[in-house]
Amino acid sequence: MELPFSESYKIKMIETIRKSTREEREQWMKEAKYNLFNLKSEQVFIDLLTDSGTGAMSDKQWSAMMVGDESYAGATSYYNLKNAIKNLLGFNFFLPTHQGRAAENVLFSALLKEGDIVPGNSHFDTTKGHIEFRKAHAVDCTIDEAFDTTAIHPFKGNLDLAKLEKVLTENPIENIPLIVVTVTCNSSGGQPVSLQNMKEVYAMAKKYGTKVFFDSARFAENAYFIKLREDGYQNKTIKEIVKEMFSYADGMTMSSKKDAIVNMGGFIGLRDEDLFRKASVFNIIYEGFITYGGMSGRDMNALAQGLDEGTEFEYLETRIKQVEYLGNRLIEFGIPIQMPIGGHAIFIDAKRILTNLPKEEFQAQTLGIELYLEAGIRGVEIGAILADRDPITRENRYPQLEFLRLAIPRRVYTNNHMDVIAVALKNVFDRRDSIKRGVKINYEAPIMRHFTVELERL
Ligand code: F0G
Repeated sequence: MELPFSESYKIKMIETIRKSTREEREQWMKEAKYNLFNLKSEQVFIDLLTDSGTGAMSDKQWSAMMVGDESYAGATSYYNLKNAIKNLLGFNFFLPTHQGRAAENVLFSALLKEGDIVPGNSHFDTTKGHIEFRKAHAVDCTIDEAFDTTAIHPFKGNLDLAKLEKVLTENPIENIPLIVVTVTCNSSGGQPVSLQNMKEVYAMAKKYGTKVFFDSARFAENAYFIKLREDGYQNKTIKEIVKEMFSYADGMTMSSKKDAIVNMGGFIGLRDEDLFRKASVFNIIYEGFITYGGMSGRDMNALAQGLDEGTEFEYLETRIKQVEYLGNRLIEFGIPIQMPIGGHAIFIDAKRILTNLPKEEFQAQTLGIELYLEAGIRGVEIGAILADRDPITRENRYPQLEFLRLAIPRRVYTNNHMDVIAVALKNVFDRRDSIKRGVKINYEAPIMRHFTVELERL
């Protein structure tokens, strides 16, 4: 008999989590103004709000922390990280930042001006926020298949080259300083981008005279899917694939809180020394001196180790098979999700569940509230609340997809937890027709409103 699959690690430290009653959760949800970000973590049983900074570090990462060098300038930890980035990703220049959006802030300060256009594949909300904050525009060039949750496509994160070429030819190229390729594409469901697509986007950028930057938060998960799905890569290691991926980028921003399995951190990788010099000025203003940029020495050490572990096949297989396990349980129950199952999360297609609810009552947010009330499980809305208002018309933007995202922290939960999540969601799904009203907004911030929005149950 063939041995079943099991995790590529064992557990050395645990953290107690607590169940609650439905009455408690009703009260807490009300106090939180129906915004899941406002819940205290101790009010949550299984926390799937994000896979960002919520992973469990390894014994090797913790021991790397103990030998962190906290020198202000030129710390050995900085050089450890510099070497790890050079060896793994191939970038000669790098700037540490405190997290991914800080890397975006520094890079875009050096690259973007008002009126610029930044094409990409479903830009993440902080990326879009940093673009729009500078009065520039993010233009989505993701392939159409990504917007049909039932369509099976191995690389739903791909950019549509015709859409991209249209943007590049219809606007002055000096107004398009960069293309952002998000790997994997979070907003479309943790869907990967193929190496072929990366290569073609890079060639097109060079043809028209612009740059390609990867938003790399989940680059290793992207590489895993390339190994499994793209012809010619089955026998390559993840690290070899990663090296090739980044050869089609002029630079990168990284939220290390995802695939590098640390709780905090980020960086920018660059090939061009002039841009590095320019960005260094902003790094010093916003983040800190260029050899620590918002990170402690110990954190840079843990990150260097995390980059290595996070690009090991066995780890990635354990990780992605767990996400797949949950996805398959939901499919068994007939719950509609973004297909195929992505890397870091399951994206529940709320539009196809709460069909009674008009979009103005925010289906995905309502589903998130119901799941929390059912079992203390916290997901996050990736839908109309997150999509914000149009910066010019101030009208609500209703994206094609209304998702409740269940993001799985790395190395944290077991498959028993996945079973609890699946059954809780099934219970909500079974009573979906009784959910007749959603929520309305009572307060919202002018940009990135989802974090602080206050809602009322209708
Ligand atoms: N890019 C992508 C693709 C992301 O998913 C995130 C964060 C960022 C950039 C920003 O990085 O949080 O370190 O500043 N995503 C988190 C999430 C918050 O829940 O998906 P950060």
